[in-house]
Amino acid sequence: MKTALVTGASRGIGLEITRRLAAEGYALTIAARREPGLLEVAASLRETGAEIHAVVANLAREEDITRLAAEHAEKYGALDLLVLNGGVGAEGRVAELPLKTYDLVLNVNLRAQFQLIQETLPLLRKSAGTAPARGAKIVALASITGVAGEPGLAAYGASKAGLISLCETVTLEESRNGITATALCPGYVDTDMAAQKRDTIGLETMLTTGDVAELVLAVSRLSAHAAVPTIVLSRAGEQIWRA
Ligand SMILES: NC(=O)c1ccc[n+]([C@@H]2O[C@H](COP(=O)([O-])OP(=O)(O)OC[C@H]3O[C@@H](n4cnc5c(N)ncnc54)[C@H](OP(=O)(O)O)[C@@H]3O)[C@@H](O)[C@H]2O)c1
Repeated sequence: MKTALVTGASRGIGLEITRRLAAEGYALTIAARREPGLLEVAASLRETGAEIHAVVANLAREEDITRLAAEHAEKYGALDLLVLNGGVGAEGRVAELPLKTYDLVLNVNLRAQFQLIQETLPLLRKSAGTAPARGAKIVALASITGVAGEPGLAAYGASKAGLISLCETVTLEESRNGITATALCPGYVDTDMAAQKRDTIGLETMLTTGDVAELVLAVSRLSAHAAVPTIVLSRAGEQIWRA
């Protein structure tokens, strides 16, 4: 049995990744901050026969992340795929962005990811040891703004650039143990997070949650011989390096 842990699984990109992993036969731990949406997703997936463990956890709280990793360990004892998807958006130019907002964005989008990787590494190593040809994978939802900066997305872009670097280092340090990490960097995807952009850039120009989920599945199927540090997923059109 393959197991995966997906954060931010209650809505948007994380929900689509979760649905597709469940259909592939993964036993899943799913996490989000708010209970009702998470439990609804868990119930509907269980109806399809999927094995789902739901954990309410706020990525801004260190103790919640520790509990999330511990519950997955207790339930499944190993981890084939860690999907670091939960995250928060924030707009604000460098000149005006409150430091409190900066701290929240960096905590949820980068510190939490660092901690969750650290606390699940023993489980990932165990899975990779059991299935050395396949290894174990980490896929993190970064953003194209972590590759090319955008005005008004100072803290968000910085957090995602940090996440891209973190994935590279994890691969360098852990591929000898069969673990690789990939930072997935999409432009605007049609979810609640990008809802305020629907009027300005047009819904029809946005990526779909399925586009992103498909790449997560592709990475999950690679052998332990392959490492994919970064995938940039741009919106079609005349500018490649913009959200
Ligand atoms: N949408 C885009 O245009 C876009 C583009 C590039 C990258 N991304 C990245 O892709 C990931 C998913 O984005 P999305 O668009 O699917 O976002 P979304 O629709 O806003 O969903 C966010 C998910 O993360 C959870 N979450 C938010 N804050 C949390 C916290 N403090 N603790 C625990 N869970 C939390 C939410 O759970 P609750 O509902 O319980 O809060 C929800 O399940 C994020 O990392 C985002 O930065 C998004």
